[in-house]
Amino acid sequence: MKRTAVYAGSFDPITNGHMDIIRRASKMFDSLTIAVIANVSKKSLFTLDERVDIIRRVTEDIPNVVIDNFSGLLADYVNENGFSAVIRGLRATTDFEYEIQMAQMNARLYTEGTETVFLMTNPGYSFISSSLIKEVASLGGSVKGLVPRYTEIKIKEKLSMEEAK
Ligand code: COA
Repeated sequence: MKRTAVYAGSFDPITNGHMDIIRRASKMFDSLTIAVIANVSKKSLFTLDERVDIIRRVTEDIPNVVIDNFSGLLADYVNENGFSAVIRGLRATTDFEYEIQMAQMNARLYTEGTETVFLMTNPGYSFISSSLIKEVASLGGSVKGLVPRYTEIKIKEKLSMEEAK
């Protein structure tokens, strides 16, 4: 049986913390779907198409990655696609309470016995979040080394377009 996993998130934008999880998870499963949530609850900097485009470019060297998007309940999307596992990255103990709550709620909703698999984030990236990256970049700070090069270019482009408005 093929072992398929999904890594879901808003990826606004994708960071090196996400990339670390994607590279490691892709080695554990036959295929890894990166599922971008279409209707982000928080206001997003990038549109869905832009977030997907960035992910496509920065993961093109990973052969078993599939990029998709979904809206609504994650468990419905997981059940429709029959994934064996849902990947989550744990950055710090502060992530734990939210993650266990979400994993336990989802476990009730999964119909195919899908497991939530937690990967400990590489300590070099544990302080990164997409919001922090956007805040630092918007105030002129460097995010080099914290996001893929293509993400960095796209953030710069986006922020200069916003400034010109
Ligand atoms: N490295 C760096 N940053 C990471 C990271 C990692 N390994 N893992 C998560 N993050 C950061 C993200 O950058 C993001 O930062 P931000 O808040 O500053 O933007 C933050 O952690 C949250 O991640 P995000 O991907 O935006 O969303 P989420 O962790 O809240 O979960 C879904 C996303 C799609 C899984 C979740 O919202 C969901 O399931 N939505 C569907 C609705 C649903 O089913 N609800 C019921 C759930 S029980």
